[in-house]
Amino acid sequence: MNFDKKFDRYDENAHIQKIVAKNLINLVPDKWYDTIFEIGAGTGILTKNIITNLKYKNLLINDKYFESKKYIEDLISVNFIEGDIENLDINKSDLIISSSVFQWIEDKDELFKKISKSSDTLIFSIYIKDNLIEISDHFGVSLKYLDMKELKTLLTPYFKKISGYEEKFTLKFDTPMDSLKHLKNTGVTGIGQTNIKKIKSYSSKKLTYKVGYFICEK
Ligand SMILES: C[S@@+](CC[C@H](N)C(=O)[O-])C[C@H]1O[C@@H](n2cnc3c(N)ncnc32)[C@H](O)[C@@H]1O
Repeated sequence: MNFDKKFDRYDENAHIQKIVAKNLINLVPDKWYDTIFEIGAGTGILTKNIITNLKYKNLLINDKYFESKKYIEDLISVNFIEGDIENLDINKSDLIISSSVFQWIEDKDELFKKISKSSDTLIFSIYIKDNLIEISDHFGVSLKYLDMKELKTLLTPYFKKISGYEEKFTLKFDTPMDSLKHLKNTGVTGIGQTNIKKIKSYSSKKLTYKVGYFICEK
């Protein structure tokens, strides 16, 4: 993964991530929150939705990369917590929320456990099994995307009420190269490590995104 220095291009290209963040915010119960903690804010796509749609007193924003702070600062005077969420303590919160981030988390079990100690409610979106299938089929590279059942199994020890659904999006491009550029700009890397011949023989003009949404309560 390589988001730092790519944030500007991310925001212009994150069509799916923008729809996903909107869908996610619609799942959040309409009530007062003293403290909301957002994991992996990036350029603030979900943050903007939080600010417009939710009622809260404190909003704590995390991202692994310090560059994210500059985007969030433009939106609100913010409490920004830089760092890898897998190595950070998470403040006590009424709601922990995250969009399009958890597919990058190495040890999801450990993170879900830590989150459940800090909050009774976790609401998140994540890319799931068969996400970007065109890429894994051709290049043989992929994150280890889990399916909805596997994610539910991981969440079950820590949350009593778990609900969710999955959604599929297909993006169409003029050329296969355009689809690869789009991926690069949204931070999906790994393809760069392959050889030119493999890139040239890539022939798909579409990308399939598969997203899971989860609402978890203790
Ligand atoms: C695909 S972007 C999503 C950004 C934003 N939430 C959105 O909906 O557009 C993923 C973000 O998660 C951040 N991220 C990835 N792994 C992280 C980690 N372990 N801890 C904190 N942030 C992380 C990246 O830096 C990046 O900003």
